[in-house]
Order: sequence, then structure tokens, then C-alpha cells
Amino acid sequence: MTGDAGLVTDILGRPVRDLRISVTDRCNFRCTYCMPKEVFHRDFQYLARSALLDFDEIERVARSFARHGVTKLRLTGGEPLLRRGLEDLIARLAAIPGIDDLAMTTNGALLERKASGLAAAGLRRVTVSLDSLDDAVFMAMNDVGFPVRQVLDGIAAAVEAGLGPIKINMVVKRGVNDASVVDMARHFKGTGHTLRFIEYMDVGSTNGWRLDDVVTAASIVEVLDREFGLEPIEPSYTGEVATRWRYSDGTGEVGVIGSVTKPFCGDCTRARLSAEGMLYTCLFAADGTDLREVVRSSHDGRTVDEALDQRVHQVWSNRTDRYSETRSSVTDGLAAGLTIRPATRPVKVEMSHIGG
Ligand code: GTP
Ligand code: 5AD
Ligand code: SF4
Ligand code: SF4
Repeated sequence: MTGDAGLVTDILGRPVRDLRISVTDRCNFRCTYCMPKEVFHRDFQYLARSALLDFDEIERVARSFARHGVTKLRLTGGEPLLRRGLEDLIARLAAIPGIDDLAMTTNGALLERKASGLAAAGLRRVTVSLDSLDDAVFMAMNDVGFPVRQVLDGIAAAVEAGLGPIKINMVVKRGVNDASVVDMARHFKGTGHTLRFIEYMDVGSTNGWRLDDVVTAASIVEVLDREFGLEPIEPSYTGEVATRWRYSDGTGEVGVIGSVTKPFCGDCTRARLSAEGMLYTCLFAADGTDLREVVRSSHDGRTVDEALDQRVHQVWSNRTDRYSETRSSVTDGLAAGLTIRPATRPVKVEMSHIGG
């Protein structure tokens, strides 16, 4: 251990508990709210293979974070299952001392084929994105004509492999899939899986986000309460992004993630590592810190791990991010008919780059 390893808190007193690792910036879907086709077209320049952190490098960074207090790792993308040999990385990450939760967020397209290998490698659980049970709606949202059935088969395979219960993420966009909310709830009610409704966020700079497109967490709860009856429940851990509700008839729970209307920066303990080794301390960051450069350089009189620990400590101990909270004042302005001028709006990192 080095002088800079050990538990660290940021300027607002928040520890680092959760590292989200993006393993690729590519995806086989083109969800309109995340990787719109007009931007992510055939000629889009994705990261070159040599630019990606290899598994040794990812493991090294994850170990440094574990020394600083991280207990939870989540693999993201793009679509993480597109990264070749991911099972090998999972096995390495599962073996890191102090890591007690290893999860993945996936679109489920390749899950049917891969679930058993992932579980065997040491993955504990998966979160699957699914925006509707209606093929026409889902195909229009993923924008590659991918059918619902195959995602449901992927979820079933994950359960079979012992990766359940599963969390299902549904981003709700007004006029696009808000009519699917009740159907989705009915489908997953009583299955033991937890469906979570996510407010459409202004993440990145390409999805053309407008406040009008957001369906609020409160209105989703209202609709479900009317249909099924809901009661609030306590968070399962401090800093949980989803607010939990249980069905009054005891058939399970749902979550709502109100990142736009109910920001949760106060307890935010999440760090994000992009596939090329940039460290971001907020989902809405415009800038990050290059950790690839640290792991690929030699350091006078210090080991790579010492240099890495020092950088991680330095970045986290200076962290002040609370974008969603400060954005509320801006969105209040938007609701009142104001627009944000480009000059006041830095280019933010895309969700497919930084991971969800
Ligand atoms: P659990 O470990 O299962 O509790 O996972 P999680 O709640 O972290 O879930 P997941 O990674 O699936 O996140 C769900 C969604 O919440 C993401 O896709 C984002 O839309 C949103 N989200 C997650 N973390 C943050 C965050 O730090 N800030 C904001 N604004 N939104 C977030
Ligand atoms: N707003 C909210 N959630 C988003 N996701 C991707 N883009 C957005 C957005 N603009 C979610 C997806 C998936 C995870 C990777 O991030 O639904 O669950
Ligand atoms: Fe791909 Fe997930 Fe983004 Fe959809 S939300 S384009 S599945 S990374
Ligand atoms: Fe954390 Fe940034 Fe999200 Fe706030 S906006 S919860 S600081 S990632």
C-alpha cells in the first residue's frame, strides 16, 4: 500500500464506493436517446483497439479504486457484451479483494448466448435495458429493428444462469413509450425482477434532449398507483439512485430514477472509467483525467500502482460535482420558457462513451 491509498472522500464529504467501467464505446443498438443514427452512423470514428485499456490495465485501475474504498464494480459500454473475451476480465475483477458486488448493464441482445459463461466467470447480476414490450415501439427506440422477444429470452437465460433477480431499466420518453409503462409493470410484476423507470436525461450533446420529452418520476408513480396500488419503501443502501415502491398486493417492487426532477448528487459515490482510460467523476462531465497515460508511463522512483493511487486520490479528494442539482435551477428556467445558450453549455461526454 502507498501513502495515497486508503479511504478517500471528496470536497462534499462523499466517499468513492462504485466504479463503473465502460469496456467499449460501440453498441449494436442505436437508441434514439443515447446513440442517434444521425451522429453514430457508418463512418463514425469509434475508439481504435490500441486506444482501449487492455484487461491488465483495467484490472490495475480497479485495484487502485478498491484500495480507495470501492466495493462495487459495474461493467457498461456502449454494449459491454461486444467486448471480446469479457469473461476473462470478469474473472479478474471478481478476484479483487474488497469487491463484493460485480454487475453489468446490458441491452440483452447477446445475453441468451453469453449468460452462463458470464455467471461462471464470476458476474453476480445483470441489469437489462428494455424500453417497451411492444415490438413497433421498441424497434423504433433501438432503431435497428431489434425484437423484444430476444431481450426477454436473454433475461430468461440470465435467470437460468443464476444472475437473477434482474433489474430492468426503461427510459421513458414522452409520446414515444410512455404508453408502455403499465404494460411493462404488469409483465414484470410478480416475477421477482425489479423494473425501474428512468427519466430521460440531458446526458451527452447529441440526443436533442428537451425538457418536454421528460416524463416525471412522480407522474409514473401516480399512473402505477392508480392501476395497481403502490407504497413507498426505504432505499436498500445509501446513495441508491432509484426510489423504491412496492405493490400493495405484495407482488414485488418497482423503482423510479428521477435524475432530472429529483437529483441525487448529495450521496453520489460513483466514479466512471471510459474504455480509453479517462476517469470521470460525474455522468455529465465535460472533462476527465487520463489514467491510461498513468498506467502506460514509467514514473521516476515510483511504481505504476503508486502513481495511479496518487492520481486517483488527488482527483477524488478534489471532486465537487453535483451537476443534476445545479441543473435543476436551469431546468426550472427552461420550464419557464428560457433556452440555454450554447456558450453556457459545455460539450458533455456521451453516455455511450462514459457508461450509463
Ligand atoms: P444498482 O447497483 O442495481 O442499484 O444499480 P444502479 O441503480 O446504479 O443502476 P444502473 O447502473 O442500472 O443505473 C440506472 C440508471 O440511473 C442509469 O442508466 C442512469 O440513467 C441513471 N444513473 C445512474 N447513475 C447515475 C448518476 O450518477 N447520475 C445520474 N444523473 N444518473 C445516474
Ligand atoms: N437518459 C436516461 N437514461 C439513459 N440511458 C442511456 N441514455 C440515457 C438518457 N439520455 C440508460 C439506458 C441504459 C443505461 C446504459 O443508460 O437505458 O439502461
Ligand atoms: Fe446501446 Fe445502451 Fe446506448 Fe441503447 S442505451 S444505444 S443499448 S449503449
Ligand atoms: Fe453524481 Fe453527477 Fe449524477 Fe450528480 S449528476 S448524481 S454528481 S454523476
